[in-house]
Amino acid sequence: MRCRRCSKPAVINMRQHKLALCGEHFLGWIPAQTQRFIKKYEMFDPGETILVAVSGGKDSLSLWDLLLSLGYEARGLYIDLGISEEGYSSSSLAKVDRFVEKREGARLKVVDVKEVYGKSIPQLARERPEQKTCSLCGLVKRYIMNETALEEGAVLATGHNLDDEAAVLLQNVLHWQTGYLLRQAPVLPSTHPRLAQKAKPFFRFYERETAAYAILRGIDYIYEECPFATGATTIFYKELLNRLEGRSRGAKLQFYLSFLRAREKGFFLRMLPFGPERIPSVNEGLELGECERCGQPTTAPGLCAFCRLWKVAEAEVG
Ligand code: AMP
Ligand code: FES
Ligand code: ZN
Ligand code: ZN
Repeated sequence: MRCRRCSKPAVINMRQHKLALCGEHFLGWIPAQTQRFIKKYEMFDPGETILVAVSGGKDSLSLWDLLLSLGYEARGLYIDLGISEEGYSSSSLAKVDRFVEKREGARLKVVDVKEVYGKSIPQLARERPEQKTCSLCGLVKRYIMNETALEEGAVLATGHNLDDEAAVLLQNVLHWQTGYLLRQAPVLPSTHPRLAQKAKPFFRFYERETAAYAILRGIDYIYEECPFATGATTIFYKELLNRLEGRSRGAKLQFYLSFLRAREKGFFLRMLPFGPERIPSVNEGLELGECERCGQPTTAPGLCAFCRLWKVAEAEVG
């Protein structure tokens, strides 16, 4: 297989684009595509501060690397979840620290969940056997990401890739979660002063492409999945989609892009009470109040899900 641009041996063949590239041309193609999507989807402007949520994995570290290379004011945020099982949190942080040491201009903020809120994620999860660890952890991460982005006056960027997005889409479609479908997007504008704008600049890349970028750029990342993720439904959905992709080239990409087109045409709005005649903001169709404790918008009366979680935890301690 030869590079389409220069005929040198190709390092990657992206069958969904019928495009094989050598290392050098692939390392030019990824940033150019990312920049194109940042603009097309109005994710952020060159002068804005970006807070990249980095997990120590290939996607988020590659994203941070790429945004810095493109000249963005991109800061990193690592959330230490306190997962000591298999040394997961400390190994992840070590990868992030190594990246920061090597990369000039990389500024990192670490939020240690146990230090700030009194309990690590596994401790919190043990007290709530009825809740899945991953969903509880997701709630805490999303909250901290939003709060930190607001503090820094930044747009939040996460490393979600197309495999992540297509798996969530499949899950939402299987359950016809119309509210979630309406809010699943490459960019979520801020619709409330307490909500930061959120962007996923890698949403068009397959996982193998972000992995190839990380390897070619010499980024050392954590390979292991979180110990609580084993058997998670999203992993199963990713496998299903990869089987589909094996049969039909570009199936994953088409699945997601066709969804975006349907969404832009207002398809999912027809399922909401106010009908398709207006294009609503992402929060419409939801009854939003403000949390009594932190002020974040919430659909629940009184406290938001995050504050409820810690209030119960405090009551148990006290
Ligand atoms: P995940 O939900 O683990 O698939 O991660 C999705 C995205 O969330 C990653 O690409 C990161 O941008 C972000 N993320 C996940 N875990 C962390 C963490 N511990 N600290 C900061 N950001 C994270
Ligand atoms: Fe949160 Fe695995 S990263 S439970
Ligand atoms: Zn080439
Ligand atoms: Zn709250």
